[in-house]
Amino acid sequence: MSRYEPIADLLHQDRPGHTLPCELYVSNAAFEFDAQVMLKSVWLYACTVAHVKQPGDYFVFELASNSIIVVRGRDSQVRAFWNSCRHRGSRICEQQRGRAARLTCPYHQWTYGLDGALLAARSMADDFDKQDHGLTPVALENIGGLIFICMADDPPPIDRVKADIADQIAIYDLEKCKVAVQDDLIEHANWKLVMENNRECYHCDAGHPELISVLGTYGFGKGLPEDGTSDVVDDSAFDALVEAKRAQWQDMGIFRELIEFPDGWWHRIARLPLAGGAVTQSIDGKLACKKLIGPFTEPETSSLSVWTQPNSWHHFCCDHVVTFSLTPLSADQTLLRTSWLVHEDAVEGVDYDPERIAALWRTTNNQDGRFSQLNHLGISNAGYRQGPYAVEEKLVEAFKDFYVDRAKAALERAEP
Ligand code: FES
Ligand SMILES: [Fe+2]
Repeated sequence: MSRYEPIADLLHQDRPGHTLPCELYVSNAAFEFDAQVMLKSVWLYACTVAHVKQPGDYFVFELASNSIIVVRGRDSQVRAFWNSCRHRGSRICEQQRGRAARLTCPYHQWTYGLDGALLAARSMADDFDKQDHGLTPVALENIGGLIFICMADDPPPIDRVKADIADQIAIYDLEKCKVAVQDDLIEHANWKLVMENNRECYHCDAGHPELISVLGTYGFGKGLPEDGTSDVVDDSAFDALVEAKRAQWQDMGIFRELIEFPDGWWHRIARLPLAGGAVTQSIDGKLACKKLIGPFTEPETSSLSVWTQPNSWHHFCCDHVVTFSLTPLSADQTLLRTSWLVHEDAVEGVDYDPERIAALWRTTNNQDGRFSQLNHLGISNAGYRQGPYAVEEKLVEAFKDFYVDRAKAALERAEP
């Protein structure tokens, strides 16, 4: 019997329109499978170009026991390597982020260039060739400034994602941004529940009063309440709002028709009007950074949102960008990393206050952390049964379908 046969059985218990079987969310076996097989077979969002702004800046992306160094070379190219020395395998970068002229292994000081080439290795045999022992590369793609990596030897295609989202992200010019704040939040829930929670706003009215006053609840597979107060969901009012802005957005070159996980692909992009006259995703809807980014010279009452399967979402405002990546730490712990980016010339304390810029999503993340934890606890209960998704939870189902589809495909390849 294959090691993953129990996982295959669970995947076959998937029911359309319903949550997954308990063990796929809570068991150690499913965590091992996700971390070592399924998530290695797909593209994962790691960071932005702003996280590795200067040559020598590195950013370590970890998924369970796997660790990858994303590093900017002297030629400004961003590359990814396994964080494992070609001598006897030691971890090389110990910090999550840093800057180094070279990457030196702490164990016996083998030294690598920022392009991964082995530069120095003491007292090796005469026939040892440094050229054969550079750092092992990991596939990396830069999509408009968002860095995606894939741990597979034969990564799946990424061309359509690039074609569909790179140009609109690129207008925010992430190369000219810097990371103002980075939060690492450990949520006490399985990573798939953290993702499912992100993919619906069914919980927003009760769960996120601060967020919906700025973002509204539309754009998440749900319409806009017709008069702003009733519970009646009416997509036509939201459509009218977009329609009213379309010409202006087109003139500005920032218009983007909704693209939603087309043909089994793994990206969604939408330009959304902000609610109540807000000009950014801040706690009061007012600018969180005085220095605007990208093409904006005036505050703009919309933001661009990007969601990717299976581990990220991003919001691009006129004054800052907020990006989210998640990775599993264990069956019931997930790292949610949130980064707020501002213009590289913005001055802390003058143009922006780090606490204020982070306040809205920090509050929202904490609220979501509680929901995901409650979800995990309830699913761990022997009384759990696979439950039905609401109509406006269609994007939750899109995530679940992506997971099941890619898990089955990865399993087939992993089978002996
Ligand atoms: S393991 Fe890295 S130098 Fe020895
Ligand atoms: Fe939420």
